[in-house]
Amino acid sequence: MIFETVIGRSQEDLKKYGLYGAGYIGRYLVIGEYEWQLSSKIYFDFIKSHVVLICGKRGSGKSYCSGTILEEFCNLPEEIREKSAFIVFDPMGIYWSMKYPNEQQKDLLKQWNLEPKGFDVLLAVPKGLEKVYREAGLPIDFTISIPVNYFSAEDWILTFEWDRFDKKSIALEKIISEVSKKEKYDINDIIETIRKDNEIENEIKNVLISYFKAVEAWGIFEKEGTKIEEIVKPGKIVIIDVSRVKNDAIRNMIASWIARNTYYLRLLARKEEELAKMGYEQKFKFPIVWLVFEEAQNFAPRDKKTLALDPILTIAKQGREPGVNLICITQMPNKLHQDLLSQTDIVIAFRLTSSEDLKALRLVMQTYVEEELENYFNKLPRIPGAAIVLDDNIERIFAIVVRPRISWHAGGTATVI
Ligand SMILES: Nc1ncnc2c1ncn2[C@@H]1O[C@H](COP(=O)(O)OP(=O)(O)OP(=O)(O)O)[C@@H](O)[C@H]1O
Ligand SMILES: [Mg+2]
Repeated sequence: MIFETVIGRSQEDLKKYGLYGAGYIGRYLVIGEYEWQLSSKIYFDFIKSHVVLICGKRGSGKSYCSGTILEEFCNLPEEIREKSAFIVFDPMGIYWSMKYPNEQQKDLLKQWNLEPKGFDVLLAVPKGLEKVYREAGLPIDFTISIPVNYFSAEDWILTFEWDRFDKKSIALEKIISEVSKKEKYDINDIIETIRKDNEIENEIKNVLISYFKAVEAWGIFEKEGTKIEEIVKPGKIVIIDVSRVKNDAIRNMIASWIARNTYYLRLLARKEEELAKMGYEQKFKFPIVWLVFEEAQNFAPRDKKTLALDPILTIAKQGREPGVNLICITQMPNKLHQDLLSQTDIVIAFRLTSSEDLKALRLVMQTYVEEELENYFNKLPRIPGAAIVLDDNIERIFAIVVRPRISWHAGGTATVI
């Protein structure tokens, strides 16, 4: 007999909480020799800390599934929802449509006894690019900018992909150390400091100036910058649409700034929460955070250092205690950093065929998977939303079908008619 399952919730916690703090994301898929059948409901745990991997081939249902999880977060009872916050890094620019009901799959929703509904997610875009997004008709809620003084010379060097011992890098270290004498500064202050310097060769100065002029045009830096508390809002999902941001290096700057800061603020808040339990006044509050990375291989790649890599790995390894969670979405799990893979406790895998990707999943799965993973995927029927779940918390592998989205999914396949 199959009982209701909460992905990410141990048997012990299931007894303790039942379905409280869990969201309905699909149904069990029972696969026979010649047919398949949907069975009991499958839920997703929002109470404990998790590192989730959603993977599968192009168009297999990954973003759709992560949207389903987000919808269920919105449906949680307020007292649970208010203690957490979601931040979605959206390089494809597809999550804004969650604000609108899924009228395009009305019939499918009826079969699942669901009604189309839009959600109150918040859309944030980089400040300097606001006009571009507005012209595209996007329903923006607020803009964000990063304080320039947040990044060290080393961070800039990594972003520009310069060699650490290159003349440019050494000159930049000198400039940043000079300009940092001011508590706050903007890109223009950096450019002025380069201009005024009388030790660095002119040729190098010109290169540095041209790089920082380009940085200014990215439109994501300011002297003050947005406060993280204005981005991470209790009970809310904030979608950071970085689809108009030019390249992954810049996206990494935004992601690393948010990931590092949320981790740090959660460490502080965690201490206060413990003190409050002991009866002391709680001086500082900051919600438990879920960071969702679409195209996660660009933020935490296997074979390259990026600005977001260290904070993501820190969260993967040490995020459980302070309460920072990850949902990483990728077509190619094999391209993700090994340490991230090995810290994953929940995998939702849609169709995967490459042997390298299957090998990567083997890193995640534990001894409870006896059969070859390939066999599981071969048996998976080709229906929308069919996936294999590997759950370390209950030490099980099983097949599911993700329920249809009640909010509009903008990530469908482009067609000519
Ligand atoms: N659970 C589901 N129920 C019904 N339809 C689904 C489901 N999952 C996916 N689909 C359909 O498949 C399409 C593609 O799904 P999705 O956008 O999630 O792909 P993806 O895996 O994120 O692809 P990519 O790697 O290209 O981003 C959706 O637009 C939707 O029409
Ligand atoms: Mg997608």
